[in-house]
Amino acid sequence: MTAPNIETIVSLSKRRGFVYPASEIYGGLGSSWDYGPLGVELANNIKRSWWRWLVYERDDVEGLDSSIIQNRLVWKYSGHEQTFHDPLVDCRTCKERFRQDKLHDVACGNHPDKHPGETPDCSLTEAREFNLMFRTTLGAVSSDDDPAALAYLRPETAQGIFINFANVLNTSRRKLPFGIAQIGKAFRNEVTPGNFIFRTREFEQMEMEYFCRPEDAPRIHQEWIDGFQAWLASLGISAENLSLYEQSADELAHYAQRTVDIMYRFFPERDDESKQWDELMGIANRTDYDLRVHSKKPEDAEGKRINPDSTDDLSYFDPQTNERLYPYVIEPAVGVNRTLLAVMMDAYTEKTTDKGETRVILKLTPEMAPIKVAVLPLAKNNEGIVAMAKRLKQSLQPHMRTVYDDTGGIGKLYARQDEIGTPFCVTVDHDSLEDNAVTVRHRDTWEQERVSTDQLQEYLAARMG
Ligand code: GAP
Repeated sequence: MTAPNIETIVSLSKRRGFVYPASEIYGGLGSSWDYGPLGVELANNIKRSWWRWLVYERDDVEGLDSSIIQNRLVWKYSGHEQTFHDPLVDCRTCKERFRQDKLHDVACGNHPDKHPGETPDCSLTEAREFNLMFRTTLGAVSSDDDPAALAYLRPETAQGIFINFANVLNTSRRKLPFGIAQIGKAFRNEVTPGNFIFRTREFEQMEMEYFCRPEDAPRIHQEWIDGFQAWLASLGISAENLSLYEQSADELAHYAQRTVDIMYRFFPERDDESKQWDELMGIANRTDYDLRVHSKKPEDAEGKRINPDSTDDLSYFDPQTNERLYPYVIEPAVGVNRTLLAVMMDAYTEKTTDKGETRVILKLTPEMAPIKVAVLPLAKNNEGIVAMAKRLKQSLQPHMRTVYDDTGGIGKLYARQDEIGTPFCVTVDHDSLEDNAVTVRHRDTWEQERVSTDQLQEYLAARMG
């Protein structure tokens, strides 16, 4: 079972502290969200898994953390100033603005049960282009329009990688093929953000630019498409909720030769199966576009430098072929927030108790679970039991995220931990004081086992996957 819709996750998130509406005490701020105690743990687990898989477990990827605000010229030469647009339409009747290519994702201002353009009174204007980059000004300028002070918040983390290509190459003494990985915030002034954390104006990306020889790019592209499906499966996302989508020529970004999106079934409630899917991540072949446009050497047909502002040449000398070239780039780009939503939707399960009550169980993998173990005293007024439970919490904490909770009866405590995906509850009872053993309860089966406290850490570690 997976969540029946995104709304189910919105309500669980608010109730249990995964994600809250941002600026809530001031009426909120459209499509901005804050990550609570459990949400930040889950997001960190996703980022840690990605980083470990790419940077630590492979031998050909380096990490990077570049600035959110870069020289404006980065965005001039990357093409974002000219082409990073969405088609914007206004409705003359309801006075709202929509992204023309996403009308089926939003509601009409006057008829919330219809999409814009679906009723005769909708009167949409022709589409016009709207640049998605957030503008800001640097320093103490006299006017907000001062072009000399204009800067942008990055709309993708990728450009920070391209402009550091030579730095990383030289300092790490890499040879092709190799990758540079980066996790960080990106900002887009989306026309129609929405669907909870699916599309927001501030979000977090995990991007890797994998540099290779041009002739190897198609094969390597396919390897990363396969590799990322396996990584997403390792997070607990089931294959039946993932699909691949080959972007058509008119959908491709200005830099891409081929892009395959990995889609997740974010909208299972939609009757039309083809509308249930939306992009979880994209894997693009960006060719040598970015390294070329940021280099000082390449010239146009008339012999003029295409980039007269760059001070460096981002080409690569291949010692094996004695040739200088601009490497091709394969870019798997995935959003932390969309991954978190997919992981939660896929883990969501409901179970009916013997008494006919419905319980929510978030069947997260142990790696993803925000809390790995909850230590619960059976009697919170018994000093011996409480002391033993607190001691166990302290001893487990250095090895795995553990909490102590005595704020309810044991049934309620189990139910709370099930709902947030804690794989194991450890209960200390009266017998524990005699036999130095505790009850370990398994989230998914509700089975219980008696385990000696000497063996507890080893027992749990072996089951953390
Ligand atoms: N560097 C390539 C790039 O940025 P993208 O497809 O525009 O490609 C990559 O973005 C991923 O970032 C998306 O697949 C999605 O997971 C995430 N993403 C993009 N825009 C987003 C938004 N407005 N809100 C949340 N996540 C977003």
